[in-house]
Amino acid sequence: MPKTLAVASLKGGVGKTTTCTNLAAYVAAMGIPTLLVDLDVQGGVRFGVGLDDYAGATLEDVLLRGRPPAEALIMTNRAELSVVLSGRFATDQSLEAYERAFEQDVTWLARLLPHFATADFTPQLILLDTPAGLGAIATSAMVAADGLILPVQCEPLSLRTLPPMLRRVLEVKSKYNPELNIEGVLLTMCAERQPAAADVARQVREAFPGGLVFDTVIPRHEELSISFAVGTPAVTLKTRAAGAQAYIQLGREVIMRLPEE
Ligand SMILES: Nc1ncnc2c1ncn2[C@@H]1O[C@H](COP(=O)(O)OP(=O)(O)OP(=O)(O)O)[C@@H](O)[C@H]1O
Ligand SMILES: [Mg+2]
Repeated sequence: MPKTLAVASLKGGVGKTTTCTNLAAYVAAMGIPTLLVDLDVQGGVRFGVGLDDYAGATLEDVLLRGRPPAEALIMTNRAELSVVLSGRFATDQSLEAYERAFEQDVTWLARLLPHFATADFTPQLILLDTPAGLGAIATSAMVAADGLILPVQCEPLSLRTLPPMLRRVLEVKSKYNPELNIEGVLLTMCAERQPAAADVARQVREAFPGGLVFDTVIPRHEELSISFAVGTPAVTLKTRAAGAQAYIQLGREVIMRLPEE
């Protein structure tokens, strides 16, 4: 059984997609078969892992057009990394239909994920990139996940969105998925010399008991955004840079908590 981790936040732009692409690339590079599923209609994963030109089947085709899940599974040129993209959403109608389908059944994704294992590829880790907010897509990811990575940008507004997120986690746990756990709160985009950032980091560590906040803190570093322009996550592009090093350290924390095969 693979471990499924959803990366989710109520606030937008806190580093979910950056976390997903870097974490997936690192864990896969360590020889652990990893599946990254982009659920967000923004489709940022496509650019983060260099699949700009991919024209094959997507989650949209599986959900709305009945295409077999295996057709949407993209084996990348990085060993052990497979990806499922959200869709192309050529029309507003297709975008609305995609969102509506999740609203109609928040358990669909949980039932779908096992179908992404094939004779050639059995994931050991599944990472779900979700859209910001507490809508049906993010909820579906929580229903399907074993654990949640909750990025909190090191600034006060991001911190304030954590309590409603935690309420939703409890609701999903009681209604759909009693196995759901918080894998870790992840401090992102930390400009550590700024007092406001250090203050948010301190408040998060005080509020959550040991083990519920990742030791790794992701610093604010330009190379992490550049990777979306060149289609290669920083962990493989600029291994020695501070941002990449942080995601490598996070990857080690995540690998350490994977169940033994
Ligand atoms: N640690 C970082 N340092 C500098 N820039 C970053 C960092 N993490 C992410 N970024 C940049 O910040 C922006 C938002 O990051 P990202 O897209 O990963 O966030 P998100 O939570 O997925 O956003 P959304 O809610 O829109 O899906 C992007 O332009 C990204 O390149
Ligand atoms: Mg995103």
